[in-house]
Amino acid sequence: MRRERCSVTGTEQVGPYTLLRVDAGGLDAGVPGQFFMLEAPGRLLPRPMSVCLSTAGEFAFLIDPVGRGTRALCALERGEELHVLGPLGNGFELDVERPLLVGGGIGIAPLPFLSERLGGPPAILGFRTDWHAEAAALVPRAEVCVEPVYVTELLPDDPGNVLACGPEPMLAALRVRVPDAQLAWEAPMACGYGACYGCAVEIDGELRRLCVEGPVLHGGTHGSPMIPLLHAQGVTGRTGAPAGQSPAPPATLSAASGVHDRNGV
Ligand SMILES: Cc1cc2nc3c(=O)[nH]c(=O)nc-3n(C[C@H](O)[C@H](O)[C@H](O)COP(=O)(O)OP(=O)(O)OC[C@H]3O[C@@H](n4cnc5c(N)ncnc54)[C@H](O)[C@@H]3O)c2cc1C
Ligand code: FES
Repeated sequence: MRRERCSVTGTEQVGPYTLLRVDAGGLDAGVPGQFFMLEAPGRLLPRPMSVCLSTAGEFAFLIDPVGRGTRALCALERGEELHVLGPLGNGFELDVERPLLVGGGIGIAPLPFLSERLGGPPAILGFRTDWHAEAAALVPRAEVCVEPVYVTELLPDDPGNVLACGPEPMLAALRVRVPDAQLAWEAPMACGYGACYGCAVEIDGELRRLCVEGPVLHGGTHGSPMIPLLHAQGVTGRTGAPAGQSPAPPATLSAASGVHDRNGV
């Protein structure tokens, strides 16, 4: 783990998402599924992001602008700088015989890097709209579905070794179909390295820190994270899209109102 001040080398729109490219400096990309904490301009706390693409000297992060921090990251321009800390957590285990990548919404973010490390295995990706599905172009050999079709409907009878990232309902459904799948879960994270307990979730009946135990867990061996403590304490989550999908704001709440913000941090 290392913290560096990185320059933005460019940004691109990919459907509703922004691909933020930064000079990696001396940072190691780590293992796909690990994450980095990115300083969000104007925010006190950094935001966790997965490496989407890693080339010589450069990382790209695919970012869904769901709140103030992610919107600030998406607004960064070439030449601006931000602090980046990582790699953090446990990534995907890459020693698998028949990998099949499964992704939903912004949960596809780590899959281009994962695909590259695994030599371009097949992938099944699901999105809410054709606009969101533009991001599928980042993942080689992808079969794509758009709601109301779900990725689980495209799973073959014998899916092999599933490695997945996406919204919680998708991961929960996958865990039932493929008990030994490797699943990348999400929880709100404030530090990213085990110090704040902000990411505590229930794993195997005990509260554990997802940033330390995960974010990638084996579906059949570790159980799965339950609702993060923050949510249990009454902090509203992303209703209907806990991970991997940009939510449509509820009719009564506007994103700009700050109601969805983590107390302005
Ligand atoms: C390990 C990990 C890797 C991630 N990788 C990516 C990535 O590659 N690209 C990407 O776009 N996003 C990724 N995320 C999610 C991203 O970190 C959050 O969307 C971001 O922190 C939200 O910050 P914000 O200030 O924009 O929104 P906020 O205003 O803080 O929150 C907006 C809404 O989302 C909820 N929320 C915030 N963070 C999370 C979370 N982690 N899980 C569930 N609900 C949350 C809040 O409760 C609120 O309702 C990742 C999260 C984790 C834990
Ligand atoms: S994010 Fe701080 S302990 Fe996990």
